[in-house]
Amino acid sequence: MKDLYAGRFTIGAAIDAAMTRDPKMAALIARHYSSVTATNAMKAYAIAQGEGRYDFTDADAIVAFAQAHAIAIRGHALVWHWNAGGQNAAPDWFFEGGREATRRRLETYIAAVVTHFRGKVFCWDVVNEAASDTQDETYRKSRWFEALGPDYIEIAFRAARAADPDTLLFLNDYDTERPAKLANLLAIVDALKAKGVPIDGIGHQLHMNYRDGIDGVRAALEATSARGLINHVTELDISIYADPPSCYSSARTGCEADFGAAIPPERLAAQARLYAALFAEFARHPTLKSVTTWGVTDADSWLDGFPIARTNAPLLFDRAGAPKPAFDAVAQILTAP
Ligand code: XIL
Repeated sequence: MKDLYAGRFTIGAAIDAAMTRDPKMAALIARHYSSVTATNAMKAYAIAQGEGRYDFTDADAIVAFAQAHAIAIRGHALVWHWNAGGQNAAPDWFFEGGREATRRRLETYIAAVVTHFRGKVFCWDVVNEAASDTQDETYRKSRWFEALGPDYIEIAFRAARAADPDTLLFLNDYDTERPAKLANLLAIVDALKAKGVPIDGIGHQLHMNYRDGIDGVRAALEATSARGLINHVTELDISIYADPPSCYSSARTGCEADFGAAIPPERLAAQARLYAALFAEFARHPTLKSVTTWGVTDADSWLDGFPIARTNAPLLFDRAGAPKPAFDAVAQILTAP
């Protein structure tokens, strides 16, 4: 895959440190990918054991593996709001003692982490998921927003730039293929640019499902290009379930029933068609420099647990590591006459 798309964009996967120690998985990654992202190992809950106490063990293992195979590394993610299941991207210690203390800790944390990976990580998702999902407000009311207001984004980008003048700085978000969400994200980006805040690109997560189309994706890529920014597709996967919004509410109601091991072939075929349409679209945008899937095989996808526990199959390789119809479809985009 990386060879097929060389010269257009890097082909990436989200990986964890254990994969780099599994010979079969390591070979699969080295063969197909020119970029990796740490699924969790570079998030605050993995690195910061407390204020000023950092553990880079897993992240460094991923970096060593990538460097040994000449694979580029996307940094993900310096600032995020997610706090669930003991995975606290915004740990409590950041927020003790009020605004100025929080601001100082955020700057100190970013300086330490970006400096640690300086010269190794070619870009950072500086802030992840800053835009609101709803039309009536621009900013997600995250813990960071509550503590620092919209300034937290500017603070983070300036701190990252100060620690590494060469790494590319991204604002990353999901649902950028939906017009209302894209409008909020662009309002944030435009405000940052008006203030001279250093930002190089927009990351489009693209957690999609087999019934989605590509029109919204095209609009998001074009809006980014129009602002002189780089596009990255950062977390692509295509769920074999199409769920109503209620499935993503806290009640998690109305989600499609689990197929278990009996996945209908027509869902995988539809998934393959969407993957092909997306990669054909990606290849049309010279500003798109990186495309990453969120995982390598279906066995390591987060969608087995989100939004509910259920057997999903959203990636290009099946649970045994064999290429799926989606893989063949993506390969054929560039090889077919
Ligand atoms: C997910 C990981 O895949 C899970 O292992 C973890 O439990 C939660 O985070 N958007 C992002 C990613 O930006 O960092 C998330 O990754 C998926 C959604």
